[in-house]
Formats: sequence, structure tokens, C-alpha cells
Amino acid sequence: MMDIKKEHWSPLLLDWFAAHGRDLPWRDESPRDPYKVWVSEIMLQQTKVETVRPYYDSWMEHFPTIPALAAASQDEVLRQWQGLGYYSRARNLHEAVQEVQAKYGGHVPENKKEVQSLKGVGDYTAGAILSLAYGQKEPAVDGNVLRIFARLYDIEENILSTPVKKAVTVLVAEQLPDDAPGAFNEALMDLGAMICIPKHPRCQDCPLEKLCLAHRAGKEGELPIRLVKKKSPVEDITVVVVRNGSQWLVHRRPPTGLLASMWEFPNAQGKGEDGLRAVCQLLAKKGLTLAADDQPIGSLKSIFSHKTWQMTIYEGCITQGKLEEEEDWQWIDCKDYASLPWAGPHGKITAMV
Ligand code: ADE
Repeated sequence: MMDIKKEHWSPLLLDWFAAHGRDLPWRDESPRDPYKVWVSEIMLQQTKVETVRPYYDSWMEHFPTIPALAAASQDEVLRQWQGLGYYSRARNLHEAVQEVQAKYGGHVPENKKEVQSLKGVGDYTAGAILSLAYGQKEPAVDGNVLRIFARLYDIEENILSTPVKKAVTVLVAEQLPDDAPGAFNEALMDLGAMICIPKHPRCQDCPLEKLCLAHRAGKEGELPIRLVKKKSPVEDITVVVVRNGSQWLVHRRPPTGLLASMWEFPNAQGKGEDGLRAVCQLLAKKGLTLAADDQPIGSLKSIFSHKTWQMTIYEGCITQGKLEEEEDWQWIDCKDYASLPWAGPHGKITAMV
């Protein structure tokens, strides 16, 4: 039995691709025009090949070259994209093509850093352009490639994690043939679309069946593992920097929980008028009447492991009442701010006022 970890299996894949690769409009030239590769790859993001076909053909009739697209108006560009969705793709492509026209005389750069710096071009698209159009040995790792490699190499970890993506990129780079890196990348795309498909892979038709570790173990249906990180909830917080001359009113947080025992400006959950009303109510409990400005002085975002604070900051003053100074409510001189242990983002607010 072959050992996949040592095996150079690219000839098996390339032979299969020569016999079964799809006939697609962006593949009909040799060598490939980098502009056409670029347009097709952007259109194919989150969109099926069959949906892209007519859009691609019509696009190339309207904007056959980089200068043609660079000279088009945004309205014309969006009209051609209409129906494909995710319109920022079209705007970014248009902007990036104008940059290529202005900065590189209309020649798509052949240098990885320069290609990656173009708007809307990430690692995957840069790898596709450089390998398909310029024959460079660059991996192009997308979700299809991650799924194929998770099965071939029996990777039982989350394929959406950065370490797994990096490891797969190294494994692809090890396999890339010197003389046909573009064909190799495109063969993986077709294998992922036709054979190594998500739910019920067609292993009996796969050129790599004998090598595939997940198939050997009967696990091809269980891999890959895709764990989408849950987005942590966002809390709106209204903060008021309450001044009295050179003094600031500050509060020490409770001794347990998030940012325990650290100091903060008066604040409450909520935003806009609701948030300001909540801070007024908080201070009313201390016998203080707050007059806050109705326009914020700024905003801050603070990300914790389990939640995010979206903070809006106002200034204000006390118009009535006197603070009974307690352990956890005090006036401090703003000159002494550095001596307080500030609760995370509240320390940054001191620099805003
Ligand atoms: N999906 C993404 N890029 C592709 C390409 N060049 N050919 C077919 N499917 C793709």
C-alpha cells in the first residue's frame, strides 16, 4: 500500500484532470490571460460555476481587457454584475484593476506581495492567478482543497482553523509539480467539485482512492470537521466622563467578574438616549443629577473572549447633589489618572478627553 505522507501523487491527479477536467470558458486559452483568471476567480467566490458562466461571457464582451475595465464607470460595472450578489466583489475588482492600469501599466503583477496587495485579492486568489497565469509554484487553498486534504491525510481537526489551513498549504506546496502548478491547482478544484464532494464523496471514481487515509478508515463521510466559531454577543455601553473642574467621577467595578475591582467611568448598558438615561438613573441612585452632552465625543470597541463592548463616550457634569464618597465611588484629580488600575478600555478613554 502506498504511503500518502511520502508519496508524490500529483501525476495521478494530473492524468485524471487531463481526462475528466471541466471545459470552462475561462480555461480556453493557453497561456492564460491573468486578467481573465482574476475575473473568473472573483466571480467564482461563493458562486457556482453554472451561475458564473453567462456572467463571465458577458463580462468579457463588455470589458475584454484591463484597460477596458479600468475605463468603465462604476454603474456599467455594477450593471454587469447585477444578479451575482456580493457587490463589493465588483467594486473591489474595478478599483484593483484601475490600480493595475495606473501603477503597473495594465500588467497584473507577477510578484506575490504585489498581487496580494490588490483590493479583494486574498491568499487563495493570489495563488490562483500566479499559478494559472504565470506558472508559479503557488498553492491556492480554498474550502474544496481543505476538504480534499482533510480526507486524504485524515486530518481530524477543524479545517477552518488557521493552523490547519497553514498545514494544508504546506502539504499542497509539497505536491505542486514544477511544470504544471496551475493544472494541479485546477485539478484539485475539479476533484473537489465533482468527486470529493461534501456529503457523499464518489470515492470509486477518485484517482486518489487508494491513497486516501479517510477512505481506508471508512471515515470519508465524517471529514472534514468544520467548526464555525460562534460570534460573541455585542453589548452597547454608554459611558459618561463626568467632570467637576479638574476632577473625574470614577467607579470601582465589583470584586468578582469581568475586570474585577478595576476603575471605570460611569456607564450603563444601552445606546443613544436609552444609554444616557440609564447612566442618569445610575447616578441618581447616588443622589447625583447628571447633565450629559447629547453628542458623543467618540466610540471604542473592546473585544473579550466571550463578549464585545461597543462603547459610546459622552461628557457631562453634575448639576445637583453631592457624592457620599465611598470605597467604590470617588472623585479623582485627572492628573492622577495613571495611578489607577483602569478597567481595560476605560484607560483608553482617558486619552480621548
Ligand atoms: N472554483 C474556483 N476557481 C475555479 C476555477 N478556476 N475553475 C473551476 N472552479 C473554480
